Amino acid sequence: MSPEVPYADNSVPLSAQDEHLPVLLHEVIAALLSTRVSVASTDTASTILVDGTFGRGGHSRQLLQRLSADDRLFALDRDPDAASVANLLADEDPRFSFVQARFSELGSVLAQRGFDGVDGILLDLGVSSPQLDRAERGFSFSADGPLDMRMNPDEGQSAADWLNSAEENAIATVLWEYGEERQSRRIAREIAAARPLATTLELADLVERVAVAPKKNQRKHPATRTFQAIRMHVNAELEELDEGLKAGFNALSIGGRLAVISFHSLEDRKVKRTFRELSQPPRLPRRLPVRHSAEQIPGRLVSGAIKPGLAELNANPRARSAILRVIERVS
Ligand SMILES: C[S@@+](CC[C@H](N)C(=O)[O-])C[C@H]1O[C@@H](n2cnc3c(N)ncnc32)[C@H](O)[C@@H]1O
Repeated sequence: MSPEVPYADNSVPLSAQDEHLPVLLHEVIAALLSTRVSVASTDTASTILVDGTFGRGGHSRQLLQRLSADDRLFALDRDPDAASVANLLADEDPRFSFVQARFSELGSVLAQRGFDGVDGILLDLGVSSPQLDRAERGFSFSADGPLDMRMNPDEGQSAADWLNSAEENAIATVLWEYGEERQSRRIAREIAAARPLATTLELADLVERVAVAPKKNQRKHPATRTFQAIRMHVNAELEELDEGLKAGFNALSIGGRLAVISFHSLEDRKVKRTFRELSQPPRLPRRLPVRHSAEQIPGRLVSGAIKPGLAELNANPRARSAILRVIERVS
C-alpha cells in the first residue's frame, strides 16, 4: 500500500455551501474539445459529450459554453441534489439533458436515449463540495448530521446501518484497504463496542479518542481516513469505477476520448492500469502465427498523469490530490 492518502479532505472551508469549483477545468476542456473538428467531420455534424458526474455542473456549464447549437451534452449523477440542479439547466439549455443514474449504467442509459457512440466523456470522481459541506448528508466529520454518506440516499445501506450490523473484521478490512488506516483494528473494535452509532460526530469523536495522538502540525483530522474508507465502501466506489471505465470506453466513437479525474491512489491506479491495458496489443499465445497489428489496439494514451498547477491549488485546495488521465479510442 502506498503511504500517502491523496484525498480531498472535508476540513477545507468553502464560503458558499452549494459551490463546487470544477477541478482541472482547462485541461478537461483541452482533452475533450481539441479533437472536436476531426471527430465531428467523420460521420456526424455535431459533437456529443457526456458528463458522467454532473455534481453542480461546473464542468458541464463550461463545456456547453464551447459547444455549438447542434452539439449535445448529456449528463448523469447518482445524487438527487445534483439532479435538481441539472434539471434546471436542462430547462434553460435545449442542448443539455440529464438522467439520475450511476455511471456504471452508462451503456444502457445512452442506448435507451439513442446515443450511438459519443465524442467525449468526463468522469470527475469522488464527492462534490456540497455533499461534503451539507451536514445532513452525513459525509462530514466536522459538522453533526445523520451518519449516512450515500451519494444517493434512496439506494443501498447508510453508513450507520452498515457500521451497526457489519462484522468487526469487515469494518477493519474496509478501514485498512480503502483508508490505509494503520489503526484499523483498534478503531473497528471501538466501533463494535460503541454500537449503535447514529451521527457523524459520534463516529468522529470515537476515532479521535481511539487514534494515537497525531504528530505535531499534522493538518488532517484523525477521522479523515475512517470517513473516506466508509464512504468508499457504502457507495461501492471502486466497483463503480471498474464498470464506469469499461462502459465509458465502450460508449466512445472512434476518435472519442474518455477523461477521468481521480482523487485517491486506489482510483488512480485502476484508471492507469485500465488505460494501459486498452492502449496495448492484446496478449496472444506466443507460438500462434498471429500478426500483431495496430488495428487490434483499442486505445491511445493521450497523456500521462495531469495534475493541477500552483495557481489552481491556491484557488482551490480541494484540487490538491486530483489526477487527470485521458485515453482516445482508436479502433
Ligand atoms: C467531484 S463531483 C463532480 C463535480 C462536477 N464535475 C462539477 O464541476 O460540478 C463528483 C460527483 O459525482 C457523483 N458520482 C460519484 N460516483 C458516481 C457514480 N458512480 N455514478 C454517478 N455519479 C457519481 C457524485 O454524486 C458527485 O456529484
